[in-house]
Order: sequence, then C-alpha cells, then structure tokens
Amino acid sequence: MERKICVSLDFLEEKHRDAIEKTAAETGFVPRFFSKRERDAAMAWLQESEILYTGSLTLPAKAGASLRWLAFAYAGVDPFCRPDGPLAGKDCLLTSSNTFDVTLAEHTIMVLLMLLRRMPEYEERVRRREWRAGLPIRSIRDGRFTILGAGHIGGRIAEDLKGMGAAHVTGVSRSGRSRSPYFDEVRPISELDAILRETEHLICILPSTPETRGLFTAEKFALLPQGATFLNVGRGDLPDQDALMDALKSGHLAGAAIDVTDPEPLPPEHPLWTCPGLILTPHAAGGTTLPRSRDDNVALFCENLRRYAAGEALQGLVDRSQGY
Ligand code: GLV
Repeated sequence: MERKICVSLDFLEEKHRDAIEKTAAETGFVPRFFSKRERDAAMAWLQESEILYTGSLTLPAKAGASLRWLAFAYAGVDPFCRPDGPLAGKDCLLTSSNTFDVTLAEHTIMVLLMLLRRMPEYEERVRRREWRAGLPIRSIRDGRFTILGAGHIGGRIAEDLKGMGAAHVTGVSRSGRSRSPYFDEVRPISELDAILRETEHLICILPSTPETRGLFTAEKFALLPQGATFLNVGRGDLPDQDALMDALKSGHLAGAAIDVTDPEPLPPEHPLWTCPGLILTPHAAGGTTLPRSRDDNVALFCENLRRYAAGEALQGLVDRSQGY
C-alpha cells in the first residue's frame, strides 16, 4: 500500500516540490501536489492520504479516516482546536508552522518605528502638502518593551529590539518561561495587570485560545500608562476593539498598530478603518509573501516528515486541548 501525502498549497515553487519529492522518496511516501483549483482531484487523493500539508481551513475536514498528521502551513491553528472545528472527530497529529518569525518581527519593527516617529501624522501633513517637521519622537534605543507571547515569534521580535539597543524587553508567557535568550525577563501572564502598569510599548503576539479571546478589555487598556502604544500581530479577537478605539480617541494611547481584526475581512463600514492614531494592515505581517517564509515552511515540513517516518517528536506539535 502506498503511503500518500496530499499537498495543497499555492505558494510552492519548483525547488520546494523537488525538496518534498526527495524527502518523501527517502522516507517511503508518495506526495501529490494540488493547487486550489484542483479541489476535485485533491479530494480523491486526500481520501487515502496519511499526511496533509496545507494552509486550507476547509480541506482538512474532507480528509479520510487514513489521515494521521495534518501539517498546517500557517501559525494560527485555533480553528482546528475548537471541538466543532474542521478536525472534529479526527484523531490525528497537528503541527503548526512556526516559520513566520522574520516577517512578523520586521513588520512589528516597521509599525513600531512608524508610531514612535509619528509617521501617521507626517503622512497626513504630506497629503495636505504641508512642509512642517518638529513632532516629538521616541526611539527603540533605550526604550522599554513588553511582548505578550514569548514563543518563537515573540523571541525574534525581542532579538530585533535588543539589536536596536532596547534597554529592557519583558516577555510574558503562560509559564513565565521562554526558550529565547533575548528577553531581559520573562513573567507569567498571571501577573499581567502589574506588568501593564509598567509597560510603555506593548506588542501582542498571542494565539487565539479561550483564555486570550477578549483579554484586552477597557480595564486592561486603562492599566497601561498614559501615552503607551499597543501593537497586535497575533489574533484579532484579543482586544475589545471598541475599547481600543476609545483609548486612542481619548489620547490615553499615543498610537496603535493592528494587523489582525475581528472579523476578517474587516467590513467596509467598520469604524476601525478610519480610527485616528491607528495603523491598520490587512493581515499582511505574516503569510508567505517573503521568500524566506516559503523556504522555511517547506524545510520544516521536510524535517518533520523525516521525524514522522522515524517515529520521532514533531516540531511545532500542537496540543489541541490547549489550543496552540
Ligand atoms: C497567520 O496569521 C498565521 O496563522 O500564520
């Protein structure tokens, strides 16, 4: 019996397919590649596949009973952890791809600098053809930052901030620990309220779980000092979006940048589109538009395929009961 792999991804280049073919041949698997348009052909192959490598949220629900491992090509796996989600009733391994650290960290540094250096206001002045400088700015060098989410991506953001001379980077995680050596300290999320009172610049990169959904209420924003900045590159259901807009309009927050919203896509009439002081991007921080993200994604899959075939622990293995 052939051991089949179904690969349904639109970002693969020839070198990526070659790498997957090679690893599959070495490990005794037969891969087939399908684009989004080849749904019907994919469906037949999927019925007999042991492994599915995809970024689709709908395809996994269609997998057959043969499925043993879903290698999800993105980081956020929350839909697959919901009891009524696309993996409901399927007893298979689930891995997420933690290969978006570089693109997410660089996006974060970009919007952070835009806020610290008052880019939204300068853009507005330039649009009005007003040649006027002089807005007070702030720097990453010597600054103090808190990163909510001290995993792979949070660690890369901390590394970039420290590389630019940040004085202090606090990581916050569930356990109060992190594998990254770039945090000056890592504290447990149980201390969040005290941490927020001391936080000038807050960067959120949390998964969506029952504990994080709606975590950022008006009360939480109020704990941040006057003039703080709020960045979210994790999931859009973290903040109460009305409370975020209120905190910006009242001037309590100096600025905010969010790459994720709830819902997505953001409806055209939503007030977030025009909220003053907010840099909004349409879930553009991660994804596979950076070549490195594609290469790392495929390299991770191939490494995990070797591990899977050898019966070793997979990287990025998700605990579906924890939600990440
Ligand atoms: C992007 O948001 C991802 O889940 O990778």
